[in-house]
Amino acid sequence: MYSDSDAAALYDTLNPWGDNDAFYLAHVLRARAALDVGCGTGRLLHRARDAGHPGRLTGIDPDRAALDRARRRTDVEWVEGTAADIGGQAEFDLATMASNAFQCLVSDEDLHASLTAIRAALTDDGRFVFETRNPAAEQWRDWHPGNAVDVTDRHGRELRVLHRVESAERGLVTFTETTATRDGVPLRTDRATLRFLTEPELRAALAAAGFTVADVRGGWHGEPLTDTCLSIVVTAEPAGAPAR
Ligand SMILES: C[S@@+](CC[C@H](N)C(=O)[O-])C[C@H]1O[C@@H](n2cnc3c(N)ncnc32)[C@H](O)[C@@H]1O
Repeated sequence: MYSDSDAAALYDTLNPWGDNDAFYLAHVLRARAALDVGCGTGRLLHRARDAGHPGRLTGIDPDRAALDRARRRTDVEWVEGTAADIGGQAEFDLATMASNAFQCLVSDEDLHASLTAIRAALTDDGRFVFETRNPAAEQWRDWHPGNAVDVTDRHGRELRVLHRVESAERGLVTFTETTATRDGVPLRTDRATLRFLTEPELRAALAAAGFTVADVRGGWHGEPLTDTCLSIVVTAEPAGAPAR
């Protein structure tokens, strides 16, 4: 009723460029070689190339429809796979996971395998920059049909996108996203589970994979992290990295 390809295009419509994207773009433009993990439709690396990044840009994502959209540009390297599949060895001085892609790492095993693979892909002076929704802010409480969003897709279809939380316990939130007509006829429903880690849990997971935390913020402009911040923005470095 509503194809994967249309859903990938709708993601870009629903998520216009914002301060979070500008934050990551600034990091990418300072990097020699950047790996965007969970790159989705590729818009961060598209922008980086548009802005004149001269070096290596690689995006990896397991979602083929999103990656097909990314592949509309061929001046960036696109890889179909998960974070744990990253095979690179010390090739990148920056890895990013933008727009809460980090929260797709749900099980302890996948989290550890993914972080270990990202660490292995980084040079010793590299950085891993990502954000994850702050569990203290409990944003999933806003994911209900009363907050449905009306949107017009690339074919001019008038749609309504709404969320329903099925469960929220022990840091795991399972929810559905339904794309419907404006009068409520469902066209597709996707189900997902996201993991919400606290700052101490993030630090422990990163340390177990060979990272130290260089910086933790509560937003895109250097805000200190408090319980009301929506995001935890983390910069991690390989453990034992030389002082800079
Ligand atoms: C919310 S989207 C963010 C996409 C993109 N980073 C952006 O800024 O628009 C999360 C992305 O993470 C990807 N993803 C899911 N599981 C993943 C995994 N295990 N490793 C890497 N990426 C994953 C999804 O396919 C999806 O494209």
